[in-house]
Amino acid sequence: MSEQRPFRLGVLGSGLGSNFDSIAQGCAAGAIPAEIALVLSDVEDSGILSSAKALGVPTSFIAPGKFRTKLDESAEAEYIAALQEAEVDLVVLAGFMRILKGEFLRAFEGRVVNVHPSLLPSFPGLEAWKQALDAGVKYTGVTVHYVDQGIDSGPIIAQEPVPVREDDTPESLHARIQEVEQVFYPKVISTVVGRLMNDG
Ligand code: GAR
Repeated sequence: MSEQRPFRLGVLGSGLGSNFDSIAQGCAAGAIPAEIALVLSDVEDSGILSSAKALGVPTSFIAPGKFRTKLDESAEAEYIAALQEAEVDLVVLAGFMRILKGEFLRAFEGRVVNVHPSLLPSFPGLEAWKQALDAGVKYTGVTVHYVDQGIDSGPIIAQEPVPVREDDTPESLHARIQEVEQVFYPKVISTVVGRLMNDG
C-alpha cells in the first residue's frame, strides 16, 4: 500500500507570528493533520520569519513591490511560484497585511483561509479591535474565512465571540482576542484540512 504524502500548508504573515506559532504547535502535536511546507513574508525582519527559521521550516522574504496594501504583479507571481514549488495544498494567512488579488486566488481557488480579529462583517481592515472599542460593542471576536478579492470579505467558515470589558484598552482587548485566535484558528484549519483531504 502506498503512503499518502502529508497535506502541506503554506503560511503567509507580516507580523509577530503568534498565530503561526500556534499552527506549528498544532501540526507538531498532530491536532492539524498537516505539515508546514513554507512560510512567506512581505516583511524581512518579521517575527513570523524568525519563529519559522527557529523551527527549521523553510522561509522566504518576498518583497511586495511598490504598493502599500497589495502585492505588485511580479511579487504576486513570485508568491504563487514559491507556494506551487513547495506543493502547498492550503494557503493560510496568519496576519498577512496585504490584499491578495485575482491571479493568486485563481492559482489556489478555494484554498486560501484567513483569520481576522473581529466578528465579520463588522470591522474589516486594520486594527479591528480598536474599531470594536470605538463602536461600543459588547462582543467582538474572531472570524476564520475563505479569502476573496475584498478586504476581509470572503465566505465565513467559523466564528468565536470575545466579550468587550468596560475597562478594556485597545491593547488588552487585542491581547484577549489573540489568545482566542491561538486556540480557535488551529482548530478551524484542522477542519478545513480534513474537508480538503476528503474531497481529494
Ligand atoms: C492577528 O491578530 C490577526 O488576526 C490580525 O493580525 C494579527 C497578527 O498577529 N490579522 C488581521 O488583522 C487581518 N486583517 P500574529 O502575527 O501574532 O499572528
